[in-house]
Amino acid sequence: MSNVHVINHPLVQHKLTLMRKKEASTNSFRRLLNELASLMAYEVTRDMPMSEVEIETPLETMKAKVIDGKKLVFVSILRAGNGILEGMLNVVPGARVGHVGLYRDPKTLTAVEYYFKMPSEMHERDVVIVDPMLATGNSAIAAVDRLKEMKPKSIKFVCLLTCPEGVAALQKAHPDVPIYTAAIDRQLNDHGYILPGLGDAGDRIFGTK
Ligand code: URA
Repeated sequence: MSNVHVINHPLVQHKLTLMRKKEASTNSFRRLLNELASLMAYEVTRDMPMSEVEIETPLETMKAKVIDGKKLVFVSILRAGNGILEGMLNVVPGARVGHVGLYRDPKTLTAVEYYFKMPSEMHERDVVIVDPMLATGNSAIAAVDRLKEMKPKSIKFVCLLTCPEGVAALQKAHPDVPIYTAAIDRQLNDHGYILPGLGDAGDRIFGTK
C-alpha cells in the first residue's frame, strides 16, 4: 500500500467520526465534508512544484516562491464528488474544475458514463480526482481510464473513505495513481457499500433520502 496516504491528522479523524454518525444532519454532514476536504487539500498539494519569481516588497526586491505551471484541475465524479469540491477550492481557489458523470449500474455495480467535461490543455496540468467513497473502485477506474486519454502530467485520487477491496482494485488497474483517504474501513458489503462506512455519501450530502 505504498501509494496510499491515510491522512491521520486529528482534525480529519474527528470530523470523519462526526460524519459517520447516523444522526448527523444534512447540514452538518455537508459542512464537515467541506472542512475535511480543505484539510485534505493541504496534504494532496504538499508536493506541488514551485518556482521563484522576483517581486518587490515595500522595502526591497526579493525572489519569492510561487506554485509552478498551469492551474491544477480538480475532477469531481458526479454527484458526490461535488461535496468535496468546495472545500478543495477554498484552499486552491484558482484551480480549474472538470466533471465526470458516472452512475453505478445497481445490478452489475459497473460504472456507466453519462457526462465528461474537462478544462483545456489537460496535457499540461496535474489532476486531482475527488469522490468521497472509493468502494468497488469501478467509478474511480473508469474516471482514471478516461482522464489518462487526455495525458495529464499527473493524476491523484482523493476520497474520504475506502476499503481494502477498493484500494486493491484501483491500485491493480492504476498502480501509478496515489490514493489519499481519511480511512480504510473493514470491507465492502454485497451491495457495494463500505462497512462500517457512513452510508450513501450522495444522499447524505444532498439530503435525498
Ligand atoms: N458509495 C457510497 O455512497 N457509500 C458507500 O458505502 C459506497 C459507495
